[in-house]
Amino acid sequence: MYGIFTPPELPQGFRIQNLVSLDPKNRQNVVDRVRKIERKAFPSSEAFDFDAELKKKNTSMLVVTRPDELTEVVGYLVFLRMRKVALLHKICVVEHMRRKGIGRCLIHSVLLQLEKGGCHSIQLWVDEARSPARELYQSYGFREIDRCVDYYGPGRTGLKMQLSIEK
Ligand SMILES: CC(C)(COP(=O)(O)OP(=O)(O)OC[C@H]1O[C@@H](n2cnc3c(N)ncnc32)[C@H](O)[C@@H]1OP(=O)(O)O)[C@@H](O)C(=O)NCCC(=O)NCCS
Repeated sequence: MYGIFTPPELPQGFRIQNLVSLDPKNRQNVVDRVRKIERKAFPSSEAFDFDAELKKKNTSMLVVTRPDELTEVVGYLVFLRMRKVALLHKICVVEHMRRKGIGRCLIHSVLLQLEKGGCHSIQLWVDEARSPARELYQSYGFREIDRCVDYYGPGRTGLKMQLSIEK
């Protein structure tokens, strides 16, 4: 069970929105912006295929934007919902906006949604070397349940983490 924190706050003027809640004519621009952020933050071998993945009906993306300037995306999270288990695929915050609580807000938002939807647990894989992400997950109570050497390529260990979200 994850810890109950005081709900985190986004920097002023920003909001978390589900991609599907946006006007369809704005969605592609938002996804294009997310793709650019993704290219900067992750090696090409880990680049997420947004066009293919977002077509899957159990995959959702949350974006942090300004409602009046939707293409100013400063963070995103992609997750996949199966019956009782969810998979956190990606979380990323643009470099100049890190350490302002945006990552925490994204995690908090997805956990609330999954809990309301009756999901029992959430799992993810993270590169062992990504300490900011590991710290963030651990602060919510995610625990390592598996590890795989060379998961992300030679010398890059992947950690599988899980959090129970049952009431
Ligand atoms: C991981 C990431 C999403 C965190 O986003 P963020 O908005 O900077 O995180 P927050 O400001 O909400 O920080 C929440 C907590 O995470 C941990 N954390 C975040 N950045 C950290 C850092 N550089 N060093 C240590 N802990 C860190 C801390 O516990 C922090 O709480 P605190 O500020 O009260 O100490 C961001 O660093 C990022 O986009 N990294 C690159 C992409 C990535 O590695 N994604 C994960 C794999 S898919």
